[in-house]
Amino acid sequence: MIKKCLFPAAGYGTRFLPATKATPKEMLPILTKPLIQYGVEEAIQAGMDTMAIITGRGKRAIEDHFDISYELEHQIKNTPKEHYLNEIRHVIGQCTFSYTRQIEMKGLGHAILCGQSLIGNEAFAVVLADDLCHAKDDGVLAQMVKLYAKYKCSIVAIEEIPKEDTNKYGIIEGNEIEDGIFMISNMIEKPEPKDAPSNLAIIGRYILTPDIFDILKTTKAGKADEIQITDALLTQAKNNMVLAYKFDGKRFDCGSIDGFVEATNYFYKKEVK
Ligand code: UTP
Repeated sequence: MIKKCLFPAAGYGTRFLPATKATPKEMLPILTKPLIQYGVEEAIQAGMDTMAIITGRGKRAIEDHFDISYELEHQIKNTPKEHYLNEIRHVIGQCTFSYTRQIEMKGLGHAILCGQSLIGNEAFAVVLADDLCHAKDDGVLAQMVKLYAKYKCSIVAIEEIPKEDTNKYGIIEGNEIEDGIFMISNMIEKPEPKDAPSNLAIIGRYILTPDIFDILKTTKAGKADEIQITDALLTQAKNNMVLAYKFDGKRFDCGSIDGFVEATNYFYKKEVK
């Protein structure tokens, strides 16, 4: 039902300088796989086949990653190393990729708006690849697609965070209408702990209905002078309905050094040891 997934990947990734000076943050690997490939695999698992990626200057490695390298194919074919390419070949065969550039970094809301021509007039998913999610059965996006089938409205994934960290996230307030599902009444971008309405933080997985684009066009720059998706979603919640969903699974904030190391250790134990 939801076929398209948008990956805003235009940010500078300053917390990972100098690694991100010439390499996109989304290409940093957890073990051998770049962060964005984990995100694309999660989208495929949720039934999506069209990946729309918002890039910026210095991000061409992402396009090359999801393309065939003829030289490499030629070198590695029929050698014992060929299996190293299996996973990425499979991903490339399962879906199409389209790209557009965010010319100026005016925030996540603006990056999503840049994707309008790639998405069109249908509900779509958004993945922030630096939030790496792992679930035992259905991935987080697959869980959210099931919820969308029931409610047909925008949905954000949330998790409980320590109160002292509220100034790193969008924080929601809402009524719990089913176990772990909240109808949002308020959301604030990166509030100080004393101003936070809860400790329920939005993480990098969204299902958005396409009316979000018109709302984003009239959303003024907010926190950090950026166009915030949180502000647009609050308007959508007031006009209509937006749900917050406490997902099953683990999330690693791979945009931070601590989260990146934690994810590396977790996947090493799971896949290598
Ligand atoms: P972050 O807040 O993590 O920013 O963006 P960043 O630039 O990636 O990293 P730091 O903070 O400088 O280390 C959250 C997500 O939104 C995207 C980023 O690529 C990331 O996936 N984004 C953010 C854009 O695509 N465009 C923007 O203007 C801002």
